[in-house]
Amino acid sequence: MPAKHEWPFIIVANRLPVVRGKGKSEGTWRRSPGGLVSALTPIVQNSGGAWAGWTGTTGPAPDPFVHDKITHLPVPISRTQLSSFYDGFCNGTIWPLYHGAVREPNYHRRWWRPYVTVNRRFAEITAKSAAPDASVWVHDYHLQLVPALLREMRPDLRIGFFLHIPFPPEELFGRLPWRRQILEGLLGADVVGFQTQGDAQNFLRMAKRYTEARIEGGWLHIHGHMVDVGSFPVSTDFEHYNEMASEPQVVKRSLQLHQQVGQGRKIILGVDRLDYTKGIDVRLRAFQELLARRPDAVRECVFVQLAVPSRGRVGEYRELRKHVEELVGQINGEFGEVGLTPVQYLHRELPFDELIALYRSAEVMAVTPLADGMNLVAKEYVATRFDDTGVLILSEFAGAAEELKTALQVNPHDVDGLAETINMALSLPEKEATRRMSRMREVVSGHTVYDWADSFMQALSA
Ligand code: ADP
Ligand code: G6P
Repeated sequence: MPAKHEWPFIIVANRLPVVRGKGKSEGTWRRSPGGLVSALTPIVQNSGGAWAGWTGTTGPAPDPFVHDKITHLPVPISRTQLSSFYDGFCNGTIWPLYHGAVREPNYHRRWWRPYVTVNRRFAEITAKSAAPDASVWVHDYHLQLVPALLREMRPDLRIGFFLHIPFPPEELFGRLPWRRQILEGLLGADVVGFQTQGDAQNFLRMAKRYTEARIEGGWLHIHGHMVDVGSFPVSTDFEHYNEMASEPQVVKRSLQLHQQVGQGRKIILGVDRLDYTKGIDVRLRAFQELLARRPDAVRECVFVQLAVPSRGRVGEYRELRKHVEELVGQINGEFGEVGLTPVQYLHRELPFDELIALYRSAEVMAVTPLADGMNLVAKEYVATRFDDTGVLILSEFAGAAEELKTALQVNPHDVDGLAETINMALSLPEKEATRRMSRMREVVSGHTVYDWADSFMQALSA
C-alpha cells in the first residue's frame, strides 16, 4: 500500500463506493447506494486514483485496501458521529433544506459541531495521502467544509468540489444558522461545480451576499483566491448500459419478467432510493387515481416500484416507508383481482443485470422526484432503450429535465396531472414515443459520465 503523500488524484466523498456486508454477508463488500457512487466508480476505475470515504460501519476504520480496481482510504466515523453528523446535520438539516424544504429542516448546534469535526477528519486524511500538487475532488453536501480546511493544510493542492444535490435559493439557504461557514468552506476550492445553471446562480448570489467574495471577470475572488463556479451536469456510462441491455441473459430475463410480472400488461416502473424527495407516494396516489377513473386499466398495466432501503435510522424515512407500504396495500386491496396485482413493490437493492432487465421490461418509466439534483435513473433508462422504445415520464424538478426535454414532463405534486400523464404514456403512438426517445438518447450519449468528469477536471487544471 502506498505511503503518505502518494496519490496524484484523490476523490473524497462521505461514502466509499463499497459498504461492508452485515449478517450472512459479513466480511464481504457490496456496492454503496446512490447516484454519486454510480457516477464516480467508472471514473476512478479508469483513472487509477484513490477514494477517501466512510465504509458504512462505525468505529475504527480498516487500513487502506484495494477492491474492484479502486484504492480505498477509509475514514472512521464513530457511532455518536453517525447520529449527529450523518443522520443529523447531513440528513436532518442540509438534505431537506437543499431539496426545497420538502420536509422541515432541523437546526441543532449539537449537530453542527460534529459536522465540523468529521469534515476536519476527512481533510486530515486527504492531506496526508495526497502527493505534492495533487488534484483532489471533494463531493457532496456531507463535506462542504473540506475544501477550505484542506487548502489551509495543503496550499499546494488543486481542489475541486461538486455538489450532487440542488443548491437552494436565498429564501431557504438564508435560514441556515451556519450559512457563512458553509459558503467559506466551499470557497476554499479552486472549482465549485453544480448540477444546473440555476444551482450555480444561487450559490454565486449567496456567496456575494454572505461572504466577502466579489465577482470579477466571471470568477469569484475572495481573500486573494480565485474560484471558478459553474454547472457540470452529471451523467451515466451510456455505452455500458446500452451494451448490457442487449446481452443475451438480460434480453432473456427481461422477456421473462414481462411474462411473469406483466402477464400481458404494460409495465410502468419506478426505481428510487426510498427517499421523501423522490415523490414515490404522490406517484402511487396518481396511479390510484388512474385506476379509480378507469378500473379496467388494471388489466392493461402493472406498476412496479423498486425502492432501495435508505437512511432507515432517520424518522422521516421510516415514516415514508410505512406510508408507501400502506398505499401499496390500499391500492392492491381496492383494485386488485384474483391473480392480478396492480402494484408490485420491492424494498431492496438488485444486482446490476436484474436492474437493466427491469429497465428493458418497462414500457413506461416514471421518475417523479419533488426535487432532485440530477436523477441518474432517468438517464440509465434512456441508455438501455437501444431500440428507441419506451416512454419516460420526468419531473420538471429533476436536474435531468433541463436536458431530457422530450420526456413527458410533469409537475410531480399534481396528482391529477400525473394520473393523466401516466394514462397518456400508456397509449402514446409508437412513432411519437420513438421520436421522443431517440432525441433523449442523442442527448445522453452526447454527454456521458466521462464527459462530465473530463469537463470538471479540465476546469480544475485550467
Ligand atoms: P440518488 O442519487 O438520489 O439515489 P439517482 O437516480 O441519481 O438518485 O441514483 C440512484 C442510483 O442507484 C442509480 O445509479 C441506480 O441505478 C441505482 N439503483 C437504484 N435502484 C437500485 C436497486 N434496486 N438496486 C441497485 N441499484 C439501484
Ligand atoms: C445521494 C447523495 C449521495 C449519497 C446517496 C446515498 O445520491 O447525493 O451523496 O451517497 O444519495 O445516500 P447515503 O445516505 O446512503 O449515502
